[in-house]
Amino acid sequence: MKSVKKLMAAAGLVSVLFLSACISNNESSGSGGEEKLTIGTEATFAPFESMEGDKIVGFDADLLDAVMKEAGLDYEYENTGWDPMLVGVDDETLQAGMAGITITDERKETYDFSAPYFEATQVIAVPEGTDIQSAEDLQGMKIGVQNGTTGDEAAQKLVGENSSDLSKYDSSAATMMALQNGDVEAVVTDIAVAQHYVKNNPDANLTLVEDDENFDQEYYGMLLPKDSEYKEQIDEAIQTIMENGTYEEIYQEWFEGTPDIEALES
Ligand code: ARG
Repeated sequence: MKSVKKLMAAAGLVSVLFLSACISNNESSGSGGEEKLTIGTEATFAPFESMEGDKIVGFDADLLDAVMKEAGLDYEYENTGWDPMLVGVDDETLQAGMAGITITDERKETYDFSAPYFEATQVIAVPEGTDIQSAEDLQGMKIGVQNGTTGDEAAQKLVGENSSDLSKYDSSAATMMALQNGDVEAVVTDIAVAQHYVKNNPDANLTLVEDDENFDQEYYGMLLPKDSEYKEQIDEAIQTIMENGTYEEIYQEWFEGTPDIEALES
């Protein structure tokens, strides 16, 4: 009798292990039976999100996974592209966007955001040897930005909304390609992404110009539909993860140093 029970317990354990092995890393199963959230992104934005085979990897992917597990929510993380993500969260075919998205007042008119989870600012990437001291020197240069991002906005402020010198691309990767091809002379983008690119592409011979007078401090949040029913659960999960050390662990997988969690929580 005893051994039969043991056997059954062992069989149960094996099937649980088998089932959990079947669930890919970009999906998590929370408390069963609930609906599965679809979360969009633009996955050419390393180290936050990029494709590794058919899997989205990066800080955002890991943090999202931890947050959704903590919140007990099932989800699927999908590389929708930037504009479809914004449209999808607005019309609620997507339940969220996780893409290094800056919390801005303008976006808050249309969307809700989770609690902030990362600090950022814009930076200028140029070929080494370019004569540029600050963002003001961008005047008259050919600039590349990702369409509809805070980099786009910052560049518009400097050179004018309809400047023919401003080229807009659909993805973050396309801006860096344009810079490497010489289609543009400078790219305005998020600092951690630019730093990651420079470090991992030494042959591109790029250098970064910071300018905290012209570029604001930014914070990333998960993009949510207005009045999202999940906001509270997600914010609580973010807070828990920041307090229990999980956030710091994930941070250190992707970045050097220690995160300033207090700055995010205040
Ligand atoms: N932080 C910037 C913004 O919100 C750029 C985000 C771009 N993200 C991406 N996955 N391409 O506008």
